[in-house]
Amino acid sequence: DTDIAVSPKHHLQLVLLGDSGVGKSCIVLRFVRGQFDPTSKVTIGASFLSQTIALQDSTTVKFEIWDTAGQERYAALAPLYYRGAAVAVVVYDITSPESFAKAQYWVKELQKHGSPDIVMALVGNKADLDEKREVTTQDGIDCAEKNGMFFIETSAKTADNINQLFEEIAKRLP
Ligand code: GTP
Ligand code: MG
Repeated sequence: DTDIAVSPKHHLQLVLLGDSGVGKSCIVLRFVRGQFDPTSKVTIGASFLSQTIALQDSTTVKFEIWDTAGQERYAALAPLYYRGAAVAVVVYDITSPESFAKAQYWVKELQKHGSPDIVMALVGNKADLDEKREVTTQDGIDCAEKNGMFFIETSAKTADNINQLFEEIAKRLP
């Protein structure tokens, strides 16, 4: 049905937030192009990509994705990207407790300054590095439950749960 392909029913503004190096750009690259870049460069400012997916009920969702820069020097820019967003995906690295603390900072920031009906997801990335894990799955679940967020662990490297992340977000929209 070509009509569905050329005219997505839903447009979804999504922003990714989280510490530098947690894998935000790699998650987007995996989702949009099906690729992984082991030499991914730090994002400067922010970058924009879009991707359309078909849901099981044959509706389509076009994700309009702002991939923000996690380096501290860009922190002041974040509100430009999350203010208009319907969905915020907060990412940490399961091998980095510092990045988990930073994720909790972003959740608070979104609760204070984001749109009141923003849908939030918490993502523990680099799940392939389980032998170096320092943040338990239960820590992630607890944090997400406390804040009314959807939670998932992903690997941009192996592609584990990357499509599921975006599909679950699309399903949770009003
Ligand atoms: P900023 O743009 O600075 O905010 O960082 P970022 O969150 O976009 O990180 P980026 O996606 O550039 O990834 C940082 C590093 O982590 C790169 O070396 C990636 O190859 C690596 N990486 C990203 N995702 C994964 C993953 O799922 N598993 C493993 N093992 N490495 C990953
Ligand atoms: Mg990046």
